[in-house]
Amino acid sequence: MSETPGASLSRPRKRITLLNYKGGCGKTLLAVNVAGYYALKGYRTTLIDHDRQNSAMHWLALRDRTAPPIHGINAGRQVSYETRSWQLHVPPEMERVVVDSPAGLHGHDLEELVQKTDIILIPVLPSDVDIHAAAAFIRDLLLDGRLRHAHASVGVIANRVRANTRVYESLKRFLSKLDFPMIAELRDTQNYVRAAERGLSIHDIRPASKVQRDVDDWEPLVAWLEQPERRAPPTISSAQGAPRMRVIDGGRGKW
Ligand SMILES: Nc1ncnc2c1ncn2[C@@H]1O[C@H](COP(=O)(O)OP(=O)(O)OP(=O)(O)O)[C@@H](O)[C@H]1O
Ligand SMILES: [Mg+2]
Repeated sequence: MSETPGASLSRPRKRITLLNYKGGCGKTLLAVNVAGYYALKGYRTTLIDHDRQNSAMHWLALRDRTAPPIHGINAGRQVSYETRSWQLHVPPEMERVVVDSPAGLHGHDLEELVQKTDIILIPVLPSDVDIHAAAAFIRDLLLDGRLRHAHASVGVIANRVRANTRVYESLKRFLSKLDFPMIAELRDTQNYVRAAERGLSIHDIRPASKVQRDVDDWEPLVAWLEQPERRAPPTISSAQGAPRMRVIDGGRGKW
């Protein structure tokens, strides 16, 4: 569901939304890094922050003046109903729109973000609590009638991965059972934190050799983002019936 920007654009607009009920899984960190990546590659990029904590807007405010520009929209700020659509207005020339969402988003707010987006990225941390929360979120994407008729492609990102740990193995098992692809594994590193302190993405760091390993980790993710129609497998709308999930605990899904 690409939006229709100005006719002069060579690259159709694509909207990418970071989503997960769970707090602290990396939605904001990944949103700013995706936005930073696109800006560096010359895309006219907008970053929309739906979280009242405004972390993504804070990142933008810290952004080095020499870094490629990113247009920011603070959608977490409370405004009247009348000014809401003006607040959310994305300039027509924008080619990539990256949306950061708050934890615990439900109901109409979640539905609206899912309906509007082309791609949903779900970061998942390798912990039992996070795997359980991700399972609940993905179950709702698949089973909630209002959500599953959206046309977004969905990709899961294993974030803050530490190889060879028990929870990482458990996360890999969980992800391998999903109908959604795991499109990247990003390690736990202060490189992201240090870049973010300057309003930069990992891709902006120079010399690039300092962060080469992390930039390499992003390769499959950015390739997938740009070729979702070929690489994405079941979209929400095409997912047939229930996911492979046992129903226990009075309806809470267990993968
Ligand atoms: N791969 C990573 N390596 C190191 N630190 C990370 C990584 N991913 C996220 N973090 C750190 O983890 C913390 C939580 O990340 P972030 O704020 O992006 O999560 P969130 O999902 O946006 O949380 P919330 O739902 O509260 O908005 C931040 O301090 C962030 O810098
Ligand atoms: Mg956040």
